[in-house]
Amino acid sequence: MKGIFRRKAVTDLVPEDGQSGTGLKRTLGVLDLTMLGIGAIIGAGLFSSIADMIAGTVDPDTGAMKTLGAGPGVMISYMLTAIACGFAALCYAEIAAMVPISGSAYSYSYVAFGEVVAWIIGWDLIIEYAIGNIYVAQKWGTYFATFLKGMFDITLPIWLTNDIQSGWGLIKSNPELASQFPMIAGHAVSINLPAFAITLSLTMLLFVGVKESARANAVMVILKLALIGVFLGVGFFHIDSHNWTPFAPNKFTGIWQGAALGFFSYIGFDAVSTAGEETKNPQRDLPRGMIYSLLISTVLYILVAAVLTGILTTKEVKEHAGDPLAYMFEKIGMPGASTAFAFGAVIAMTAVLLVFQLGQTRIFMVMARDGLLPKVFSRIHPKFRTPHVSTWITGLFVASMCSVLTPDQAIGLTNIGTLFAFVLVSFGVIALRIREPNRHRPFKVPGYPVTPLISAAACIGLIVGLEISNWLRFVIWLAIGMVIYILYGYKRSVLGQSAGNS
Ligand code: ALA
Repeated sequence: MKGIFRRKAVTDLVPEDGQSGTGLKRTLGVLDLTMLGIGAIIGAGLFSSIADMIAGTVDPDTGAMKTLGAGPGVMISYMLTAIACGFAALCYAEIAAMVPISGSAYSYSYVAFGEVVAWIIGWDLIIEYAIGNIYVAQKWGTYFATFLKGMFDITLPIWLTNDIQSGWGLIKSNPELASQFPMIAGHAVSINLPAFAITLSLTMLLFVGVKESARANAVMVILKLALIGVFLGVGFFHIDSHNWTPFAPNKFTGIWQGAALGFFSYIGFDAVSTAGEETKNPQRDLPRGMIYSLLISTVLYILVAAVLTGILTTKEVKEHAGDPLAYMFEKIGMPGASTAFAFGAVIAMTAVLLVFQLGQTRIFMVMARDGLLPKVFSRIHPKFRTPHVSTWITGLFVASMCSVLTPDQAIGLTNIGTLFAFVLVSFGVIALRIREPNRHRPFKVPGYPVTPLISAAACIGLIVGLEISNWLRFVIWLAIGMVIYILYGYKRSVLGQSAGNS
């Protein structure tokens, strides 16, 4: 079993001629990448989970607080998470510029630590991309329902807008609702139809091609930025600074737990690195795209948090946890703007979904190329030049799981899985500097080795701030992954076969 630590050389990943040879088109520039980054970053985190960051979360079974809220101190939560992500972005940038291929942290780990760690990370990235998209698609569904109601006075049936567990939870807390659910063999049935529909629609777009998708993404990002601009511009004049006191009702614990939850809002800058093989000048543009998109998002988050908590009390945020930003317009006497805002949020989250579906398919593709997943995952469509089988598998998985996991489960698992990947990328910078000291690094982490160490420590600190049930789910997920590796990938690995399964 010693072959589990077999490593790739950097030259295995970056051929001398700089061409990937995989058939993907190199069409993306720095603006496209920054747009992809912002497209992935600003979404359900800002529009939905900010309420939980401010007001805390409650266990639906016991009514006890699961995590404490940060109150207006959410501004500090965002800053803390941004600092952690900033350090991680520098680490990602160094490796992404050196190894500019699809596959993100998975590919880097293959070089830095060897195959079994790479597999663990690849398996773990499914959590970040696919499970993360489950949360986003579910929140997309919630906002879409709000928009339908406000615009056309259409109310979707309750059993078509909730995952099955949430549906059962609603019936448990209010048994009279049972009559609104269809029953199969005595069990209430509930699905999230809007989440299912949007995921499959975007899958079709990705199937047709990445440039088309990048263009669609750019339009959505511009709309998203305009929406946030309106929120800030209107809200600024209604801030009542009394609402900022008490600033941190739950002291540092609230701010810290808010920061751990808020990590979701920043996930996405790393997705830029998965577009390495489709980037015209990856060495120069990947680090820039990541860091620009992270900086822009951070500034916007802190401003939105300042305006929101300057207008709404924590109690009001809790009462309108589904859509606190839209409620702000109601509170200041602009009720019609709520519907418009819900529409804008739908657009914003569509951009997020697009980038993550794209990232997941590219990671599957690279893992299949390495023999760790069946070859069919890396098949490229002859006409559209996209990894069409991965695209459809990812689309169908995410679309159907939106009706299985609760949003809380999806966001918690996503945060822990992604933080774990960031920790390994941070250590990967150190491992690669030791193992490949002379390799050309177009971008170098400043303050090495302190920076990657701080990055790893900050991410571990955020993991500790997450609620404990997430850790358990994460360990189970990793265990399933290990079984698959032992039964499949270990034997079929291209690297292992070329070395005689050493
Ligand atoms: N950062 C992304 C969002 O907030 C995942 O939707």
